[in-house]
Amino acid sequence: MFTYDLGDGASLQILEMRHAPEFLEFVDENRAYLGEWMSWDTTMQTLEDAQNFIKRGLSRFSDDGIPWVGIWLNGRMVGGIHFSPIDPRVHSTEVGYWLGQDATGRGLMTRALKAMLHYAFDLLHVNRVGLQADVRNSRSRAVAERLGFTFEGIRRQSLEYKGQLIDIATYSLLAQEWCEQKSLP
Ligand SMILES: CC(C)(COP(=O)(O)OP(=O)(O)OC[C@H]1O[C@@H](n2cnc3c(N)ncnc32)[C@H](O)[C@@H]1OP(=O)(O)O)[C@@H](O)C(=O)NCCC(=O)NCCS
Repeated sequence: MFTYDLGDGASLQILEMRHAPEFLEFVDENRAYLGEWMSWDTTMQTLEDAQNFIKRGLSRFSDDGIPWVGIWLNGRMVGGIHFSPIDPRVHSTEVGYWLGQDATGRGLMTRALKAMLHYAFDLLHVNRVGLQADVRNSRSRAVAERLGFTFEGIRRQSLEYKGQLIDIATYSLLAQEWCEQKSLP
């Protein structure tokens, strides 16, 4: 199964069913922090919820080969990255990511996402990775911008979240841009 060493005690592993208790524990510890931007504070409540999430990831992995991964730091799960199904007509997917509050501020997501972009572009030959963030989620937007995603614009009031209509910033990175970035010194 998929594992990737990021160095400095950090690694990526495909989320497997055996990780469900640890995943739920991670969400429990970070419920308020994650809940500002993700619906997990209400939707990820039980072991069954965690198992269903992981099951969905494993099913996507068997469909199109792109893994939903957890991020471990010094043996503890501290975050993860997931992808939407690859659209086979245009070889396009969307990425989402999360870190526990204690794991932020050290470049971990930037490194982890870079590794997963390598996987998507170089191994699976995806042509476009999209990314969407609440316009106010400056930390998430900074991850995208650090990795060279192009800001495409704002889809105004395009998402309902906790009773409010949210403006969504959209970004994308294309395979050609990824290759150009890699050739930079
Ligand atoms: C989005 C999220 C993953 C970003 O976390 P993050 O820690 O800011 O991102 P990174 O791990 O890439 O770290 C970047 C930070 O580490 C710092 N850093 C230190 N060393 C670094 C390095 N080698 N490379 C890059 N950044 C480094 C950066 O300066 C930045 O800190 P700053 O924002 O204070 O300037 C996190 O805020 C999160 O999970 N939030 C809740 C869920 C969420 O919003 N998900 C996204 C939904 S769209």
